[in-house]
Amino acid sequence: MESLSSRIAKVSPSLTLAVTAQTKALIAKGEEVYALAGGEPDVDTPEFIKAAAIEALQGGKTKYTPAGGIPELREALSEKLLKDNNLNYAANQICVTSGAKMACYNAILAVIEEGDEVIIPTPYWVSYPEMVKLAGGVPVLVETKESTGWKMTPEQFEEAMTPATKMVILNSPSNPTGAVYTEEELREIGEIALGEDIIILSDEIYEKLVYGEAKHVSIASLSDELYNLTITVNGFSKAYSMTGWRLGYTAAPKHLADAIDKIQNHTVSNACTFAQYGAVAALKGDQSFIEDLRGEYDVRRQFVLSRLKAIPNIRVVEPQGAFYFFVYTGNTGLKSMNLCDKLLSRYKVAAIPGIAFGYDEGIRISYCTTLDVLNEGLTRFEQFCREH
Ligand SMILES: Cc1ncc(COP(=O)(O)O)c(C=O)c1O
Repeated sequence: MESLSSRIAKVSPSLTLAVTAQTKALIAKGEEVYALAGGEPDVDTPEFIKAAAIEALQGGKTKYTPAGGIPELREALSEKLLKDNNLNYAANQICVTSGAKMACYNAILAVIEEGDEVIIPTPYWVSYPEMVKLAGGVPVLVETKESTGWKMTPEQFEEAMTPATKMVILNSPSNPTGAVYTEEELREIGEIALGEDIIILSDEIYEKLVYGEAKHVSIASLSDELYNLTITVNGFSKAYSMTGWRLGYTAAPKHLADAIDKIQNHTVSNACTFAQYGAVAALKGDQSFIEDLRGEYDVRRQFVLSRLKAIPNIRVVEPQGAFYFFVYTGNTGLKSMNLCDKLLSRYKVAAIPGIAFGYDEGIRISYCTTLDVLNEGLTRFEQFCREH
């Protein structure tokens, strides 16, 4: 153990990946498992995107690219960001990397120094605090409440700030809660960040999956000042069902983009070359796939909501985005790991314990699966809750 760096000693393994492995092991043993734990769309990547990558591969697009990505892709992203997000980033302000995960990590590495504090609303996406620790920073967790829709209030943000605060991470729509911040809420948080020059990392990977009245807003689009403080992160994994392609990107003011480019130069070099050609096709092709996916997920979201509302002993806030429910399970008296272990071993239902997201009195249920699996999984979950 002594040979390990102190940096890595502070980092926890990913609990979400652990639950997935446990579930797969049960399935391999021949057990029927109702998996409500998935973090990726349950449909394949559209054929036209695959065809473009195959063509690139066959056409010899098998060498290194510029660190920030092929010019066609960066140009297409520049257009996308303007059209969809009202964000004006030139191609050289965009850095394509191996997944939005790496994009977040690049952003954190570019600005965080030893001891810098990073404010993270909790429940949070599993990797943020670990990335901050890897960069030598200190995660400052702000526990959000059901009563505010699992969103950090401006007051909470202000209270969490210290002279050491360097960054705040916003993830709207959120994994794991599905919370979507309104324009007004983003403006209020943005004002506070501006007052202290706090960099905003805005992870917008679920932007296309919003439901009902909710609207996705990019915080960097709200003013020039906010644009100058924000690193926008996005990717192809969720909207285009391309999780295995490992493609994400940062878009940032030029000085931050240059810093990120430097990191990329000396770490991943570039995102997979032929995959980048697939991404160009994704952006330029027929976007109806996304609307179909969103429509399908909305049906499932409403189905799960009606089922969860009828279950005793738990509480749920209607999620407005992403493909998750964060269910409050504090009344069962069980800690989330224990609850999920029992649910999986006895009822064959896989869900992610809230502790993975820094909140032990809840679990995450994903609706990235068929209505049949959701139906049976929720029937079993209901039985479990009635017995606890
Ligand atoms: C909030 C959030 N950010 C980033 C990522 C990483 O996405 P990618 O697969 O593009 O690395 C995920 C994946 O689950 C996520 O939920």
